[in-house]
Amino acid sequence: MGTDDTGTTTGTAIAHPNIALVKYWGKRDEDLILPYAPSLSLTLDVFPTTTSVRLAPGAGADTVVLDGAMATGSTQQRVSDFLDLVRERAGRSERAVVETRNTVPTGAGLASSSSGFAALALAASTAYGLTLDRVALSRLARRGSGSACRSVWGGYALWRTGEEEGGDPDLDSYAVPVLAAEMDLALVISIVESGPKAVSSREAMRHTVATSPCYQSWAASNGSDLDAMHLALRRGDPEAVGEIAERSALGMHATMLAARPAVRYWTPATLAVLDAVLRLRHDGVSAYASIDAGPNVKVLCRGADAALVSDVVREATACRLVVARPGPGARLLADGRDPAGGVPGEASGPAGREAS
Ligand code: PMV
Repeated sequence: MGTDDTGTTTGTAIAHPNIALVKYWGKRDEDLILPYAPSLSLTLDVFPTTTSVRLAPGAGADTVVLDGAMATGSTQQRVSDFLDLVRERAGRSERAVVETRNTVPTGAGLASSSSGFAALALAASTAYGLTLDRVALSRLARRGSGSACRSVWGGYALWRTGEEEGGDPDLDSYAVPVLAAEMDLALVISIVESGPKAVSSREAMRHTVATSPCYQSWAASNGSDLDAMHLALRRGDPEAVGEIAERSALGMHATMLAARPAVRYWTPATLAVLDAVLRLRHDGVSAYASIDAGPNVKVLCRGADAALVSDVVREATACRLVVARPGPGARLLADGRDPAGGVPGEASGPAGREAS
């Protein structure tokens, strides 16, 4: 927590997006954001979000500035609702000014809400004087966006459903770090579209759970995918990690395609990248696809193959390509400054390592 000349408190934090290797799709409690099934993710080292929260005593409403523009409507409301949770826990009532800078296209299925709410949870809890350990921070971030609870941690993280111990699910649903052997793993992110998606993930998962005859069987298969993923990570087997991640992602999209009416995020460019991934495998390169709530494909491969994978994807379709590797958990920036040299409002850390 910092204090400016007027005695107001601020907190500034940075967080990176995570990509689920075993997907989360579907909430059993919409208000508390409790998932039907556990999920397991990898936090990336690209596309950080930097957020600062400054208390504004006397202000009548929260101000939210997103990438330099004043947020209004549902975006402003979502941040303000989240701050209400923090205020309630801190026993305080001051409104705040929130400034956030995303280096990833927002709402394009590139996990911007995971880094966004992880950074906001840390910055806001700090500004309001709460001292939270990582588990408590993860639990809080979950209330902003489910996937955000995993971005609190660096590397691999497992989001527990909260039903494991038969206690209070709100307290027991948070992410924990997952041990993995050293692996040369990279994610080639193909940005075939950077505009916001037509259907939000919140809306799409609600509709899928309510209408897709495939949903329950996919959610039930998550348990065995999770066990297999734990084993693959422990023995450091990128091939198995990719295989499980691809079937989890494609299964998730299958539940959406079977919803009534279908939710389809894929475009012809998405299929072109999926075809390129198949060609790579046919030619003996270990490459597997993951897709979130959007048309953009993330290709899991060995770091040593990232340049080759990028070339083959680029040949298949014109798109921006960014190579990501495992990245760090959310952290505070002392005096609003990243030790790596960034400042709030600017991307601190790599905004994206463009494939050459
Ligand atoms: O946290 P949300 O509401 O943005 O949900 C994201 C869900 C997926 O990204 C599609 C899958 C996941 O596990 O992150």
